[in-house]
Amino acid sequence: MSAIRAPKGMNDILPDESGRWHVVERAFGDAMGRAGFREVRTPYLESTNLFVRTIGEATDVVEKEMYSFSHHDEPLTLRPEGTAGAARAYVEHGIHNKEPASRWYYAGPMFRAERPQKGRYRQFYQLGAEVFGDTGPGVDAEVIDLLVRFFQSIGIPDVDVLVNCIGGPETRASYKEALVKFLEPKLSGLSADSQRRLHTNPLRILDSKNPADIAAVADAPTLTDHLSADDKKHFDGLRRMLDALATPYRVEPRLVRGLDYYTRTLFEVKAAKEKLGAGDTIAGGGRYDNMLAELGGNAQPAFGFAAGLERLLIASEVPGPASVVDVFIAPMGEAAHAPALVLARKCRDAGIAAEADLRGASMKSLLRRANALGAAFAVIIGDRELETGHYGLKDLAAHTQSELAPEALVAHVKASRAARKATQESA
Ligand code: HAM
Repeated sequence: MSAIRAPKGMNDILPDESGRWHVVERAFGDAMGRAGFREVRTPYLESTNLFVRTIGEATDVVEKEMYSFSHHDEPLTLRPEGTAGAARAYVEHGIHNKEPASRWYYAGPMFRAERPQKGRYRQFYQLGAEVFGDTGPGVDAEVIDLLVRFFQSIGIPDVDVLVNCIGGPETRASYKEALVKFLEPKLSGLSADSQRRLHTNPLRILDSKNPADIAAVADAPTLTDHLSADDKKHFDGLRRMLDALATPYRVEPRLVRGLDYYTRTLFEVKAAKEKLGAGDTIAGGGRYDNMLAELGGNAQPAFGFAAGLERLLIASEVPGPASVVDVFIAPMGEAAHAPALVLARKCRDAGIAAEADLRGASMKSLLRRANALGAAFAVIIGDRELETGHYGLKDLAAHTQSELAPEALVAHVKASRAARKATQESA
């Protein structure tokens, strides 16, 4: 019988790795919390129509990458991204009636049936945020800056921030016309996808990775030339604000991104290619001022981003937790099992992570296990210790040993841990 494996492009995050995930997820929640964002959790499954209407029919995500199925005639899709679901929830719960502006963040798995490669998976995790009810451009700059600083805090200091403005619907209509006019004579040289999209979604052609398409659009007119006076003012404002914050960025007039819902500000953040290869875009986002009205809600402007968590973990050097437990308890013989469990509970009640190993392994193998778990202390409880009521406490880093009653032992571990923390923080 052949072994059952995880579906292609979907990864197990084993406990040795999940510690780093927690570090980054927590840092993200903290960073967003400090800026007034609160977490939203939306379903992993949404009505298929939600994604078709927001992301757009002629996009790679909707055309090729969605995991869709019907359950009792209800068309459902595993969410390929988080923005549409957050916007749907915002409209469904009439949040605009409850507060003038909302700052939401989320973290969780997304699903896209893409060709897997390093940094590109079929189930991947996004850390994202959305602001509803603010037209920007101040908030656009604030959120881009927040994101860059979050990347710095998790050990990704050198990022490349690309920004562009794709204007509102009128700007895009006039630009599309100019682009189609420019590309029509080159039609036969375009990829099959782009030929098909020339009249459905010509902006996508700017985003194509196909070398023939890249060559064809090299001299194409840019969106920047077609911006309305209001769009231009918005984009100028964004740049002024980013300059004031000293957030590094560069304007990339060809940046269009792969989702149809954007208006005005667009941005992407790239990190070291040497580490990430082709998947060097660690985050992307922008403004989508028309989505809420299109979902039947009150017309509210919106701006947001999402970062790929796996890509952040590839780009960052952030270490996982140094230890699994602080105290490893090694009872020598069955009589010490119950006292070992009692001590483990005492430790945990005092906020100290402790594990008692009752497998009956040898002292040598227990100490090896204590080291592997990164424990600072091992506690030996044998017949003699049971008799005296004083347990053997081994400081595994200092290589010292003392004999202490359980209460004193817990107090000692607590004090030593606090001292270690203070040294680390002052270092
Ligand atoms: P996106 O550019 O499609 O935007 O995805 C955001 C980030 O998710 C990417 O920059 C990348 O780091 C990561 N990502 C995307 N696809 C994969 C994949 N197959 N494997 C691994 N990582 C991936 C959005 O999803 C928008 N919802 C962002 C947004 C929020 N715009 C406004 N608000």
